[in-house]
Amino acid sequence: NKDKLSSARFSEATDAFVEVFTASVDFDQRMAQQDIQGSIAHATMLCKIGILTEKERDSIFQGLQQISEEIQRGEFQWSVKQEDVHMNIEARLTDLIGIAGKKLHTGRSRNDQVATDIRLYMRTEINAIIAVIERLQIALLDLAEQEANTIMPGFTHLQVAQPVTFGHHLMAWFEMLVRDKERLEDCLKRVNIMPLGAAALAGTSYPIDRELTAELLGFSRPSANSLDSVSDRDFAIEFTAAGSIIMMHLSRFSEELVLWTSAQFSFIELPDAFCTGSSIMPQKKNPDVPELVRGKSGRVTGHLVSLLMLMKSQPLAYNKDNQEDKEPLFDTADTLINCLRAFAEMVPHIEAKRENMFNAAKKGFATATDLADYLVRKGMAFRDAHEVVGLAVRLGLDSERDLSELSLIELQGFSEMITEDVFDVLSLQGSVAARKHIGGTAPDTVRAAIQSARTALSK
Ligand code: ARG
Repeated sequence: NKDKLSSARFSEATDAFVEVFTASVDFDQRMAQQDIQGSIAHATMLCKIGILTEKERDSIFQGLQQISEEIQRGEFQWSVKQEDVHMNIEARLTDLIGIAGKKLHTGRSRNDQVATDIRLYMRTEINAIIAVIERLQIALLDLAEQEANTIMPGFTHLQVAQPVTFGHHLMAWFEMLVRDKERLEDCLKRVNIMPLGAAALAGTSYPIDRELTAELLGFSRPSANSLDSVSDRDFAIEFTAAGSIIMMHLSRFSEELVLWTSAQFSFIELPDAFCTGSSIMPQKKNPDVPELVRGKSGRVTGHLVSLLMLMKSQPLAYNKDNQEDKEPLFDTADTLINCLRAFAEMVPHIEAKRENMFNAAKKGFATATDLADYLVRKGMAFRDAHEVVGLAVRLGLDSERDLSELSLIELQGFSEMITEDVFDVLSLQGSVAARKHIGGTAPDTVRAAIQSARTALSK
């Protein structure tokens, strides 16, 4: 079997099943353009240090350029016999240009090559994910601005707690995405280190110029230890961890959208284009997109766990185990981009049912804390105020009225400190407007938060 790698060492051909079993070309061909980019930088460096002639270097460039085009046109013949993306491209290069193609791998191993390809690939994906996060952030800011005055119940334990504005609620989602983006940007710093030059594990005896290849590939610097460079995939684990957190956030967001579209809440309307019907129940409009995003959060967390388990217990340096890093990684990137995109496109069309939100806030004694705070301002200790308001709520429950619907006389029956001005704090508008400190739910405060978020985003 003359196709076999390092064939001279073997006296037996690879078992046909083992050949397929050990191959990665079906999925790692996704990194073909990164592999070519890395080879171009490597060849440039090899020429600069005198290992390749300019003629050889230029023919490598031409051959790789042609291969790149063949791949883009979908004409490239991928072969399982060549195991992975790296060997497929190298074999084709040698077919095309002969002896110079065989020299490209001087001072390099697939071990540092694959680690370089993954990092180049992730760099592009992370930047693409950050770009969609920003699209979603802008959509949230626009909707929050539109709904800055909209009153809704805020919940704890999913029970009505205190009134908030819908704009404020949306800005909570915005803030989560701020941190999500920061985590990715931070991860990118460690992704953008160049392993090329580590060779198989111990470096190489050729006088390679790693500063040059790092610069050509846009890496911030060459990695510091050859054994570490070819073996660890912690940067990929970090990325899937950041991705799992993003998906956890989107899943929480999804859960609320699903609840809010139900007839029982009826707080929002999702665009028809993002929902589907039922094959049996003609009346149904199902919030499929948020449900699917909620579901997909599980698979990304699964990928995080896969990569952690893949890495644990691996001795230094490279082990074939690491070939298993790619599928979870690629699927994490795809899932993130698709879910974020679905949200970025859906959010601008979310329609708030303002009256329903307002009425729900009214129903749940959401201003009870405001009444307690009112009594404290009049001189009562908070614990006592808590007790007094509890009695007022009980009367409201028994007579099916909100606190603002109790009469002054009735309220004064609970405390003589209560006067006519109590009705200012019992209104939902008064309650939200009073929370005007940094981070509060008052419409003006929310508008200011939106403003500074816009400024920060445009930097
Ligand atoms: N396909 C391999 C991977 O994905 C490339 C590196 C193979 N190196 C080796 N010594 N077998 O990790």
